[in-house]
Amino acid sequence: MIAIDSVTKSYGDATVVDAVSLTLPDSGVTSIIGPNGAGKSTLLSIVSRILGADAGVVSVEGLDVFSAPSREVAKRLSILRQDQHLTARITVRELVEFGRFPHSHGRLTPECREAVASAIEYCDLAELADRPIHQLSGGQRQRAFVAMVLAQDTRYVLLDEPLNNLDMVHATGLMRLLRSLADDHGKSIVLVLHDINYASVYSDRIIAMRGGAVVQDGPPTEVITEAALEDVYGMEFRVHEVDGERIAAYYR
Ligand SMILES: Nc1ncnc2c1ncn2[C@@H]1O[C@H](COP(=O)(O)OP(=O)(O)O)[C@@H](O)[C@H]1O
Ligand SMILES: [Mg+2]
Repeated sequence: MIAIDSVTKSYGDATVVDAVSLTLPDSGVTSIIGPNGAGKSTLLSIVSRILGADAGVVSVEGLDVFSAPSREVAKRLSILRQDQHLTARITVRELVEFGRFPHSHGRLTPECREAVASAIEYCDLAELADRPIHQLSGGQRQRAFVAMVLAQDTRYVLLDEPLNNLDMVHATGLMRLLRSLADDHGKSIVLVLHDINYASVYSDRIIAMRGGAVVQDGPPTEVITEAALEDVYGMEFRVHEVDGERIAAYYR
């Protein structure tokens, strides 16, 4: 499991993650929801040590992420960041190969090549594999970054708004893929979502943040309710049962 203990981060006078304590399970799909500025990305960045915390401790399977060698952390935990920047002129396949770096140190083994090929296949990128990244559409590029993260083949996969730029076919395809990585490969998928209905349908657990704190934490039956969503977002919701799923309507 990932243990987050009293993690705090401030910028000047603003505390954007406020003494958050959470444990993230070693399998299943956990979604993090909440309004813009709630601290979701900051928390994931701290867990994956892109960012330091002002206070608190994070451990992954007992390994302290702030003091452990980065390679050891990277074998256990991967992250798709909310805004990936890439200046290098590389192809989709080369990008996905970067995901193997913690394992291969730059020299790809047959196992690495297999992981790269499966990630490309899973993300529907076979026809784009030799195209330069900078020639792709936003959604195609997003899938290439997801493939890079999957190629890293870690137990914990953190994804910050992975549905950004994806059409409904690829968004649903990605959610099904993440669900099957949890169910069939025993991975723990933790993802930030704005589409609360994808969170409702695909998650085992939904954590809601607001103002740097966790304000809801439970299965979709507890968090996808009118009262809980109104508390998180401060707007009106109607929750309906559609085909056995809880679906929130919020367009008016
Ligand atoms: N580098 C930074 N400097 C100052 N404030 C920041 C910085 N990064 C994030 N913040 C602020 O921290 C808060 C939480 O941001 P973030 O974690 O990105 O929220 P979320 O991902 O939930 O939308 C926001 O109010 C944001 O403006
Ligand atoms: Mg964010």
